Formats: sequence, structure tokens, C-alpha cells
Amino acid sequence: MNRIDSILKEALDKVKTAELDTIENIRIEYLGKKGKITEILKTLSSLSIEEKKQIGSEINAAKDALNDAVESKKKEITNKLLEEKMKNEKIDVSSAFSFTFPKGHYHIISRTIEEMSDIFVSLGFDVSQGREIETDWYNFEALNIPKDHPARDTQDTFYLENSSNLLRTHTSPAQIHIMEESKPPIKVIVPGRVYRNEATDATHSAIFHQIEGLVVGEKVTFAELKGTLSLFIHRLFGQELDLRFRPSHFQFTEPSAEVDIKCVLCGGKGCRVCKGSGWLEMLGCGMVHPNVFRAVKYDPEKYTGYAFGLGVERFAMFKYGIDDMRVLYENDLRVLRQF
Ligand code: DAH
Repeated sequence: MNRIDSILKEALDKVKTAELDTIENIRIEYLGKKGKITEILKTLSSLSIEEKKQIGSEINAAKDALNDAVESKKKEITNKLLEEKMKNEKIDVSSAFSFTFPKGHYHIISRTIEEMSDIFVSLGFDVSQGREIETDWYNFEALNIPKDHPARDTQDTFYLENSSNLLRTHTSPAQIHIMEESKPPIKVIVPGRVYRNEATDATHSAIFHQIEGLVVGEKVTFAELKGTLSLFIHRLFGQELDLRFRPSHFQFTEPSAEVDIKCVLCGGKGCRVCKGSGWLEMLGCGMVHPNVFRAVKYDPEKYTGYAFGLGVERFAMFKYGIDDMRVLYENDLRVLRQF
């Protein structure tokens, strides 16, 4: 037993100072077939069974202790090597890039659509999509716009060659699709691009953007229309801004109105932008015309609703103080970077 103890001690001492390439030799030296501990087993033949048992278990314990010591020493050495390696191979990645990427951002029109949509979403509106290529039925007929209406003239509308299709002149046809595809209650906005056959100037463009709104239910009132749109304008332009509802006419609403805001440039005194009136027209709206409900086979006795349409460019221009619509499309970086 004393021999076992001293051999084990000797072996453990060697392990303490071993290196990775010599440590396995220590294991063989003591635990291999001809190892120093293994050899002891061979000297036991003269002992009693009791003594053999006792010494046998002592030897096994010594084997385990040595094996454990070898394994943990190995781990210790490899960890240390790895640590050293990582320390030596460390790279400062922050200096690997010699330039930074310029940061992009949304175009002002996209951003305005986003800002306007967010307000409607907070008021419970869904956001839907329409189509840019439409038929006469969706763009005009179903919206109660008669055959001889000037909006149908090729001066105003882009008709597609060799087909009965056209580029929508407003987002209102989306109202028809939505009502055809779903049942009330409906509360939705549809942002999108629209097309008109007209010359470009400071306040006109052949391609521009609108947001259509439609609310249909069993007891939808004009008071709700006023409340919703007033709240929308005030959230966008600030609580103090004066606005007014002015009677107007649209084929697809009855009664119809337009919303004006006090001119944000002159404060109502009258200037070039508001053409001396002190007011700016912001959007069209009204109660959905019974003929529109009939076109989508809704019972006009059962349902009422309101609709509105607003021009995104106008809102963007007034909100960000842009006095020429063309700068919104020219994509001059000096302009884009200001927003
Ligand atoms: N579609 C109209 C236009 O482009 C705007 C409009 C007015 C939409 C009244 C509406 C509405 O939904 O009720 O001029």
C-alpha cells in the first residue's frame, strides 16, 4: 500500500509539470501494460483473497486518480494554448473598413404617406391597396360619373392603347373593389399612385399620389366624417391650425365637402400660394352616394358611409414648406438630403 501511495505521488508530481507532448508518456509509464502501477498487480499472487481485494481496490483508486489528473492537466494546457493563440491572433475589425456607408432614408413622399397612414391606423383604419390599371367601370361608371363627364376626356385621362383599360385618375376606384370584395363594416384607407394627362408645373404633375378613405356601416354619419378628418388634420399640422369644411361637389358623394386649412405660409393674410384667399384646399370628402352603393349591390337604405380623398404631394409641400411640386420628383440629392 505504501508503494502504491508513493508511486502515485511520484506520478502526480510528474503530471503537474508535464507538457502536452509528454503527458501521454506519463500515463503509459504508470498505467500501460508494463506500467509501474500495473506491475504491482503482478506481485499479488502470494497474498490472501482478502488482501488481494483490498489492494486491488487501492490500485483502482490510484488508476482513477492518475487518469483524472492527466485529463484535467491536458484540459488546462489546451485552454492555456487557446487563450494565448486568441491573444496573439486578435484583429481590430474596426480598422478593417476604411470608409463608412452613407445612410439612406425614405423619400419625402413615402415618408408623408407613412405619417398620414399612421394617423389613420391609430384611428382604427385598415390599409389596403388598389390597382393602377383600371377599367372605365371602376374609375368612372361605378362611381356615378356619367358618360359625358369632362373627367372622361382624353385630355384628362390616359387610356391604354388597344384595350379598354386606363390609368386610374384617382384612388376612388379602390372603393368599388373593396366593397365588392367585402361586407360592412368597412374602415379603410388606400394610398397609391394616380395619373392625369396634364402638363407639369409648380402645382401639377401627370403622376401623383392620393390616399383614399372609405368608411361604411349601418349608422355612419357626417359628424363622424367631420370628427375624423378634423382630428387627422390637427394631428398632422398641429392642434391650433384653423380648418373649415366647405360645401362642394363630387359625383360619388352626396353631400360633398372640401376641407381647407388656414394658409400655413401667410397665416391667412393672403399670399401667392393661397392665391390671396388665406385658405388652402386640402381634401375632398362626402357621404357615399346611393348610386355607388347600388353599383356594388349594397342596399342604400341599410348602409351609409363616408369617403375622402387627399393629395399626398399637397400635404407634403405644406408640411415641409416646399413651393414647387417638381422638386419632389427630380431626385436632386441636395434637396432629398434636407428631409
Ligand atoms: N377622387 C377625388 C379626386 O381625385 C377626390 C375625392 C373626393 C375622393 C371626394 C373621395 C371623395 O373619396 O369622397 O379629385
